[in-house]
Amino acid sequence: MSYRQIVDKVNSVGVIDWDRRLFDELIPLPGGTSYNSYLITGSKASALIDTVEKDFADDLLRNLEELGVDSLDYVIANHAEQDHSGSLPEVLRAFPETEIITSVKGKNMLTDLLNIKSKRISTVEEGREISLGDKTLKFLETPWVHWPETMVTYLEEDEVLFSCDFFGSHLATSDLFVRDEAEVYRAAKRYYAQIMMPFRRIISKNLDKIKEIQPAIIAPSHGPVYQDPEFILEAYEEWVNGPVKPEVVVPYISMHGSTEELVDYFVDRLIQNDIRVKPFNLREVELGQLAMALVDAAAVVIGSPTVLTGPHPQVSYAATLANALRPKTKFASIIGSCGWGGNLVDDILGSLNKLEVEVFDPVLSKGRGDEGNFAEVDRLVEDINKALADL
Ligand SMILES: Cc1cc2nc3c(=O)[nH]c(=O)nc-3n(C[C@H](O)[C@H](O)[C@H](O)COP(=O)(O)O)c2cc1C
Ligand SMILES: [Fe+2]
Ligand SMILES: [Fe+2]
Repeated sequence: MSYRQIVDKVNSVGVIDWDRRLFDELIPLPGGTSYNSYLITGSKASALIDTVEKDFADDLLRNLEELGVDSLDYVIANHAEQDHSGSLPEVLRAFPETEIITSVKGKNMLTDLLNIKSKRISTVEEGREISLGDKTLKFLETPWVHWPETMVTYLEEDEVLFSCDFFGSHLATSDLFVRDEAEVYRAAKRYYAQIMMPFRRIISKNLDKIKEIQPAIIAPSHGPVYQDPEFILEAYEEWVNGPVKPEVVVPYISMHGSTEELVDYFVDRLIQNDIRVKPFNLREVELGQLAMALVDAAAVVIGSPTVLTGPHPQVSYAATLANALRPKTKFASIIGSCGWGGNLVDDILGSLNKLEVEVFDPVLSKGRGDEGNFAEVDRLVEDINKALADL
């Protein structure tokens, strides 16, 4: 990878990570990712916006060398997470005169996380500007997208917003700018679901702030650059503030088929009632798909057998994740099976305690479901049908 021009004197100098399949040892990356870094060459000074994952530091430095960069005045650290800050130590070594510019919280985090000496870091607060001569950088605080210290940088003359993780997508692509909107929409939604959704309320405020600026270009630090920012701003508006959709997400698992039989019946009855449903068998599901489905579904119904008095561990994992992601979901219930007893329902509901959901009576069978259990599923379908009609 080499450098590529975004606008005059602004180049993309980051790297594409085609092979990466897991982020934070947690988040699946079916389409790889990129760590975008941008060099702004002003008439009087230059600034690098964010760096790249540590393993790729040499590629970043090579791109700068190819551009003929032999001095660097500033490195802007919009975010302290290592996929963007990891190469800061190498950049500081390569350019001993460089000063890091970050938020007040960012400074503490960079010294804690990377042991960077604090004398090399200057802080900026909301609205502060730095002149590079014919180009001016303005810094805006955008906390919790997705860490407490996150900020964005606006290049005023060219109206380019460097948003770091905000509006990013984990997508390895040769497209510098968005070309395939459908592909980027899905990747950005997946990114939002797994990384941004837990901070929906504060993101809504940050989104308003970005809309006010009306940037001409949004250049995030993962995935392609938006030449039509409306596309991603509207998508975020819908994901963050839009109404829930009349859809039911059904994460489930079954060891001996009892739960599965009830879940299958439930899914069929929803379909017959013309209700959109997305079942996810947790034996095989890629959890990013589940997270994406949770972005706008009105209801989630969890299916689990009882294992050692509680839910199946795969269900515990999915429920813990759903709880942590804090989707807009309004209704929840459980379809379960046990052999003799246990705390299946209470345990699952306990692990969904952060969701503000109305819970419909669960359906619980002993072993295979009997007529009464299937009638209970019919009742649950009715409950959901009514609730979705009233949305
Ligand atoms: C490893 C294992 C642990 C189990 N632990 C419990 C339990 O603690 N309490 C209970 O009531 N049933 C327990 N059961 C029985 C199952 O919950 C019961 O067979 C249930 O109907 C299985 O549902 P499924 O067919 O959807 O897998 C256990 C079964 C297995 C295989
Ligand atoms: Fe991050
Ligand atoms: Fe990131």
